[in-house]
Amino acid sequence: MNPFHEANQHRWEAASTGWAAMHERRGTWRNCVQDPTLVFAAEEWDYVANSHGKKVAVLGSGDNLAAFAFAGMGAEVTSVDISHNQLAVGIERAAKLGLNISFIQADVIDLSDLGDRSFDLVYTGGHVAVWVSDLGIYYGEAARILRNNGLFIINEYHPFRRLWKQGSDRLELAYDYYQRGPFSFAYNDNVLEPQEGTLMSYEFHWTVSDMINAVLSAGCKIIHTDEFGTHVGDWEGAPLQGLPENLLIVGRRV
Ligand SMILES: C[S@@+](CC[C@H](N)C(=O)[O-])C[C@H]1O[C@@H](n2cnc3c(N)ncnc32)[C@H](O)[C@@H]1O
Repeated sequence: MNPFHEANQHRWEAASTGWAAMHERRGTWRNCVQDPTLVFAAEEWDYVANSHGKKVAVLGSGDNLAAFAFAGMGAEVTSVDISHNQLAVGIERAAKLGLNISFIQADVIDLSDLGDRSFDLVYTGGHVAVWVSDLGIYYGEAARILRNNGLFIINEYHPFRRLWKQGSDRLELAYDYYQRGPFSFAYNDNVLEPQEGTLMSYEFHWTVSDMINAVLSAGCKIIHTDEFGTHVGDWEGAPLQGLPENLLIVGRRV
């Protein structure tokens, strides 16, 4: 396996219990089946709302909120994540919710378990690209499994938010926007508020144009983009007000 991804997988295996507990406190996973607007933003609604009866793949599914919300809307959902433990939480919660979702352990740069042109919609984002060393292969795989005219929806944490020093009361660059990484860290198992530890972690700072170009190179026509969101979470640790929170790119497979 790609050594960066192998290290990141180990960290996510270790982080999974804490991630699950955080989502247990928030409780959205229980309610999003009935109310998918708890998961999908108004800005992406037009592209996800019509998913009843569609085959949907969620890549880097993590908390599985998107997978649960799609399943609640009547889609046939496949949830893909590199972490066995993350998937195990998803499997347990899907069973509690009475949802029939297919869970697959795979790296997003190798979706060989999924056939060419087999999905109507591929959804990914919410901090997945940052863990992936090759955006071209990742989005290329996403497009490969999409049927003609299928939708590729990326709703990622906005690249402009990743650049800043933590703990400062004014914005101070920690990274040059054009540095993609890999940035290596030795952290503990807390992904939200990491401390020093022994788990290696490799992050990648893809730019807006990297993401757009990877979608185009994958063989999709971009039909919509948006930048939205104003919320600044405590975990972000910098005064990010005024910077967009999300970058939405919607492609259509041609
Ligand atoms: C922050 S979560 C993003 C998903 C969701 N928005 C969430 O908040 O849980 C990141 C997820 O991406 C997964 N991941 C990281 N690298 C991956 C890769 N190369 N292939 C597939 N999944 C990956 C991790 O295991 C983790 O579950």
